Amino acid sequence: MATIKFKEASSPYTKPSPSPPVQDTIYRKYLEDVTLKKGLGHPMVKVALFGVGRAGTIHLSNIIASPRLKLLYIVDDVESNRANMKEYWHLDDVTFLTSKQADRVYALEGKKAVLCEKPVAKDNVNTLKCYETAKNNGKPLFCAFYRRFDPSYLDLKERVRNGEIGHVHIIKTVSRDCTLPSLEYLKNSGGILHDSMVHDIDVITWILGEYPTKVSVQAYAHIPEIKAIGDYDTVAVSFCFPSGTLGMIDMSRNSVHGYDQRVEVFGPKGMITADNQRPLSVVTQIGTQGTNTSPIWYSFPSRFMNAYRRELDHFVNIALGKVESSVLPKETLAVSKIASACEESARTGETVKIQWTENELP
Ligand SMILES: NC(=O)c1ccc[n+]([C@@H]2O[C@H](COP(=O)([O-])OP(=O)(O)OC[C@H]3O[C@@H](n4cnc5c(N)ncnc54)[C@H](O)[C@@H]3O)[C@@H](O)[C@H]2O)c1
Repeated sequence: MATIKFKEASSPYTKPSPSPPVQDTIYRKYLEDVTLKKGLGHPMVKVALFGVGRAGTIHLSNIIASPRLKLLYIVDDVESNRANMKEYWHLDDVTFLTSKQADRVYALEGKKAVLCEKPVAKDNVNTLKCYETAKNNGKPLFCAFYRRFDPSYLDLKERVRNGEIGHVHIIKTVSRDCTLPSLEYLKNSGGILHDSMVHDIDVITWILGEYPTKVSVQAYAHIPEIKAIGDYDTVAVSFCFPSGTLGMIDMSRNSVHGYDQRVEVFGPKGMITADNQRPLSVVTQIGTQGTNTSPIWYSFPSRFMNAYRRELDHFVNIALGKVESSVLPKETLAVSKIASACEESARTGETVKIQWTENELP
């Protein structure tokens, strides 16, 4: 009876219902679907998907689920899979091409907006060429970093930028991949620093709005097959930023306990973290041996599913000319430049200094 005095006299039906929080991006997207909200114009964008492997399948399922996209072409050299793919995804209207026939995709109108994950080339000379071609064609090239579209990472960045912990003293990411990629993939991946660590470099520099001037990297291959191809599976990086902030990345290719992805930012007013997430919320069993929680998300397609959807939606808005890309070409180029400095440091064992021109800085 102690709380009866708080009982409200009026029914909730007599009041306006509360808005869903901005953080619940999935519900807000659902609201658009259920109310058939058109927002930002609603033309259908026609799509060709290049490569349907681990990453391409994420995009394939998101394209099919989007009311804003129509898949016209799939370009992939693995022809043995086509019949199964057609049947599984009901792709009767989709034309399948090999990479040699990809001209058909370009021949229709010539110039297309392009989304690719991460820097489009390993070296900045070629990435720059791609950006220039896109610019000359008057079409966007969106080299995306999917973690920027994760609501938790975005929230963390905004809190840091709003000064909640003051000037950042230390920022660190833990980035441990699951599952271990195939050796065929790793041989063509460009190496762990350009293939994987670029995401962490981007997260750190995006949160800070600052680029490091010194990097020091220790890297090791515990897995013999990875050593044999001249790559590393375990990396520790430290960065020194001009404002005095120190950064760290702790990275592994082979995390058996799931896709371990964390960010921690520390400053004079406290600490903000983006922790691992889990598929189950009924997680804790308190027993004589302590507590038990369910596993974390197993891999990137599940942990960052919402981010991939939001990234694709952003791309559609870019392609329609409704918004500017939230990842600037110079940011992508800076990430690659930092990854190359890290590579040099890993190879030589020396601290590497990075010089920045005014145009390159954020
Ligand atoms: N950002 C991310 O979350 C993320 C995650 C994994 C992979 N990736 C990137 O995605 C790309 C593919 O990686 P994956 O793991 O899906 O590899 P994968 O080997 O699983 O799939 C690659 C697919 O592309 C096809 N392919 C190869 N060359 C092609 C060409 N010239 N034209 C059309 N198709 C071609 C292959 O037949 C294969 O089906 C890589 O660049 C990788 O770095 C990004």
